[in-house]
Amino acid sequence: MAILPVRVLPDPILRKEARPVDVIDDAIRKLAADMIESMQAGHGIGLAAPQVGILRRVVTLAMPGEEPFALINPVISDREGERRIPEGCLSLPGWTGIVTRAVSVTADYLDLEGVEQTIPGATDLLAQAIEHEVDHLNGIVFIDHLQAHIDLWKADEEPDPRHDHPEIDFEREAANGDLVADEDRPQDEDERPGLDEEFTDDEEDEPEPIVHADLAIYQQADLDQLDMEVRRLRSQLPELELS
Ligand code: NI
Repeated sequence: MAILPVRVLPDPILRKEARPVDVIDDAIRKLAADMIESMQAGHGIGLAAPQVGILRRVVTLAMPGEEPFALINPVISDREGERRIPEGCLSLPGWTGIVTRAVSVTADYLDLEGVEQTIPGATDLLAQAIEHEVDHLNGIVFIDHLQAHIDLWKADEEPDPRHDHPEIDFEREAANGDLVADEDRPQDEDERPGLDEEFTDDEEDEPEPIVHADLAIYQQADLDQLDMEVRRLRSQLPELELS
């Protein structure tokens, strides 16, 4: 198994739609095993293949105290209710946002043996993680669900005092989504491979994918661009929306 570097915004691969898995072969099983290892190394509870640079519909989840597992081609077949909850993402280290999620979701997927499985009426953290990771497969990141710029803050910043969400237990946020604190990052920035690679938006300059277990894996963007990108995005959100 191997720990794969987790891509961070504004890495364009996080904005691409992942392709369905046609055949669950050894390459997919190795990917799932590596994703589980990478997810746990990053103290995340969920990871989607695009976050490690692979555009396939593979998700791994690990609820606290439970065995991690992989979902191939997951589909959310039912959503019920709405709630506003804090959320984080390994691809936006250090940032937390308030998003609207379903109260419960039902998900269908294939396990690593290719057997159809259903998670009926998942709630709480599991429901949130399923929605969050399936979003990743569609190029959606949780910040896309934000309503106002005070709904996004960095871990070392206090939430905006005007921010009134009595239903939210901010103490619990560290256990939500695949949120991790800066100090829990799996690698030092200096040790992250590929950071010296210059990234540009020009298609022709996009580096050639390297291969991981027969699956194309793309070079990652510069981590230093993350805060700039997220702050830019936050500044574009409405000034204040009381909810
Ligand atoms: Ni995420």
